[in-house]
Amino acid sequence: MGRWTAANIPRQDGKLAIVTGSNSGIGLRAASELARAGCVVILACRSRDKASAAKRRIEQETPGAKVVATVLDLANLTSVRSYAAAFVDHSRRLDILINNAGVMALPRRQTTADGFELQFGTNHLGHFALTGLLLPALLTAPAARVVTVSSIAHREGRIRFENLQWEQGYKPWPAYRQSKLANLLFGMELERKFEQAGVTARSMVVHPGVANTSLFLNGPGAGKGILNSFIPRLIGWVAQSDERGALPTLYGATAPEAQGGRFYGPDGFRQMRGYPVDVEPEAQAKDATLAARLWQVSERLTGVQYHFSAR
Ligand SMILES: NC(=O)c1ccc[n+]([C@@H]2O[C@H](COP(=O)([O-])OP(=O)(O)OC[C@H]3O[C@@H](n4cnc5c(N)ncnc54)[C@H](OP(=O)(O)O)[C@@H]3O)[C@@H](O)[C@H]2O)c1
Repeated sequence: MGRWTAANIPRQDGKLAIVTGSNSGIGLRAASELARAGCVVILACRSRDKASAAKRRIEQETPGAKVVATVLDLANLTSVRSYAAAFVDHSRRLDILINNAGVMALPRRQTTADGFELQFGTNHLGHFALTGLLLPALLTAPAARVVTVSSIAHREGRIRFENLQWEQGYKPWPAYRQSKLANLLFGMELERKFEQAGVTARSMVVHPGVANTSLFLNGPGAGKGILNSFIPRLIGWVAQSDERGALPTLYGATAPEAQGGRFYGPDGFRQMRGYPVDVEPEAQAKDATLAARLWQVSERLTGVQYHFSAR
């Protein structure tokens, strides 16, 4: 594949993208590069102030960038439903959906507005619902892409169907790993469903390696104890930049050669840093039976059913 960088992004004029969690880190960098390439980018952020600040920053970086700041809280299904309904009612097709927003290894169990464990609820269920509700707009695009951001943390992940919401024995990292395995299972199953339906939309999954973002500060860094306070500093030393971390996302969203049902991540040591390449997920992430079970549970929990026909 060679060294793929943001300079390889083809022009995206006439396309419309939604990037969740795009006020910071990987989402902000991905949104900025998409806007630089001529895409109209909708920043979907939980804080209006942060969304507006990100919009201003992107406009400074790329004068003339077409950026819209919107409010979406993935930890609240009412917000997800009204957001998607407003988009589908008022907007044209959706060419690119980047399911990027996330929270990681929160020291104490927290829940979404609907009572789901916060990592599973935000990282997986919120995006599951959003994608399903935006499907009419995605299927109206000639070749839409849904890019879901997972993590190398999926490797040790396990879906605990018997304790999905961590009501018993909450553990920060296993809860994060479960949510990131769920991201991969979802993205792969979505591609299978796109293929079965014979539609042109594609679903790919990506991971950024280890990138220096506020994910560490807001998650483990918010915990008590020396190790927790040390994690963000440690990450500052070992991680790659958020720009570099955004490359697999941008590759999945724009590279003509990127394919549905694939997993893209960095090419360096243990996939922690580097340039995007096709990487192999753990066997469990390719388990279609497990993915189908998670899909059914996600439909039941969110009340969102997928309908694979265009408007
Ligand atoms: N950084 C890494 O090394 C790494 C590694 C593997 C995977 N990832 C994945 O990369 C993605 C982006 O993370 P990042 O590293 O760029 O971290 P980040 O800078 O903390 O970005 C996370 C974004 O998600 C948003 N968000 C959190 N909860 C939300 C909610 N309920 N509704 C809407 N937006 C919400 C955050 O908004 P606020 O600013 O309001 O909190 C922020 O904009 C995540 O899915 C993460 O799991 C990152």
